Amino acid sequence: MANSPLLSARGVSKTYGAVVALSNASLDVASGEIIALMGANGAGKSTLVKILTGAITASSGEILIKGRKQAVRSPAGARAAGLVPVYQEPSLIPDLDVTDNLRLADTPVEAFRHWVNELGVQNLDMGETAHRLPLAIQRVLDLARALASEPDVLLLDEMTAALPTDMVDKVLEVVRKQKELDRSVIYISHRFPEISAVCDRANVLRDGETVGDVVIEPGVEERIVELMLGAPVKAAQKTVAEPASEERETTKTAPRLRVRELAAATKLTDVSFDLRAGEVLGVAGLEGQGQDELFEALAGMMRPSGGSVEIDGKAVEFNHPADAIAAGHVYVPGDRADALLAQRSVRENIAMPFHTKPRQWGLINMKAEKAKVDMAIDRLQIDTRAQGEVQRLSGGNQQKVTIARWIALGVRTLLCFDPTRGIDVRTKREIYPLLRELAGQGSSVLLYTSELEEIQLACDRAIVIFGGRVVGEFSAADADEPTLMRAAYGLSDASKTAKPEIGV
Ligand SMILES: Nc1ncnc2c1ncn2[C@@H]1O[C@H](COP(=O)(O)OP(=O)(O)OP(=O)(O)O)[C@@H](O)[C@H]1O
Ligand SMILES: [Mg+2]
Repeated sequence: MANSPLLSARGVSKTYGAVVALSNASLDVASGEIIALMGANGAGKSTLVKILTGAITASSGEILIKGRKQAVRSPAGARAAGLVPVYQEPSLIPDLDVTDNLRLADTPVEAFRHWVNELGVQNLDMGETAHRLPLAIQRVLDLARALASEPDVLLLDEMTAALPTDMVDKVLEVVRKQKELDRSVIYISHRFPEISAVCDRANVLRDGETVGDVVIEPGVEERIVELMLGAPVKAAQKTVAEPASEERETTKTAPRLRVRELAAATKLTDVSFDLRAGEVLGVAGLEGQGQDELFEALAGMMRPSGGSVEIDGKAVEFNHPADAIAAGHVYVPGDRADALLAQRSVRENIAMPFHTKPRQWGLINMKAEKAKVDMAIDRLQIDTRAQGEVQRLSGGNQQKVTIARWIALGVRTLLCFDPTRGIDVRTKREIYPLLRELAGQGSSVLLYTSELEEIQLACDRAIVIFGGRVVGEFSAADADEPTLMRAAYGLSDASKTAKPEIGV
């Protein structure tokens, strides 16, 4: 054999009691190679990354670095061997500021600043407490921190899942630069456009086992999906959502939610829209255009500084999330860490909101609860082998739990913020119909998504916000990616469909 690869993993397995997280994973990475690590939710990708970077120890198998067998026993050991990860969950200590976070990991500050710049983050306040930074920025800082230690192999575990398109592009540029420097990257993502933009090969895991290693070339996507799922699947269909029914279109009844000139904090300046019962309304926008503030204001987490919100024709003011929930507004945050009790079971997490109304206090009907929870688990095909604590579920399965509870409970208005972040292709195709089904049962859904193609798959209509205002409104049929993208960059001022009359 010619040169031995920079990094090799052979027959790696990991079990947690009866749970087999990884059964037989193998991987080769040469210098200057970008390898996609792919697999459905729960396939074992994060487990492999954690093993390679010393966060956990394999149950069996071997790791070779530059041809030599090496025991990677700790994160520090991995780092010394040139392997540096960006894990799937943000890793800045939430209560420390950026400077202290760097100090903890002995990160060279100048190199860190260099990469922060390269990644397009301007005016970073190093004294800001980590948890006050938007999730996307936290992720980029995780990456800058990893890059600052000049790794031979950079392992990116769904690094881009929480990023808006413009920031994803920056990450892809940086990945390409690593290649130019003859460094290697292991790249985990569920998004094919990113994989085909930067990766040389894809290593595919299914149920903990490496089932394929394919060269990335045009048309390879279906092959990878087949390997991931173990059976041929239908090509992704662009099924434009069913048009809203006559009844929903009518403007005679007051909309479920009427928002006028809403402003909050500094970023949300002037947003107006109607959301009807039975409708899924998409919200698209680049990072930081006011979408966070819009959802937080509607969820009672932030006081608006102007404008009005009406529910069924009545003005409301939310001073607390409890007020919003009492009005039937339920918020599913993009950051699952905010939504889950990490150390409680899947069952408890799904059942959590069942007992929030005083009239439901008292004895809990365990049987009824179990039936509802089972239904939700079944509908979303949540992998519950790791029953004990929700934190042991794979990232995508955790994300599903945040949606499952509202499907189990039923809800009037669902405010869904980027719900399919880090969810595999198959599950995504399961989640869109669920949102549509909730709408079909009379719920209203407001859906922000950073993946623009989702708008046509799940929504009846979409609004695009830019600079804190609505700059376009499109019917599902017109809301294709290029159209939304142009609007999101503030490039088109007129919407293709005539704006509906806004009643007074
Ligand atoms: N600490 C743990 N205890 C028990 N089971 C675990 C633990 N960590 C992971 N698992 C299980 O191992 C399997 C693989 O999980 P892993 O997080 O590696 O999946 P993944 O491929 O990264 O999925 P995703 O795309 O959803 O992030 C899952 O079934 C998960 O529930
Ligand atoms: Mg994972």
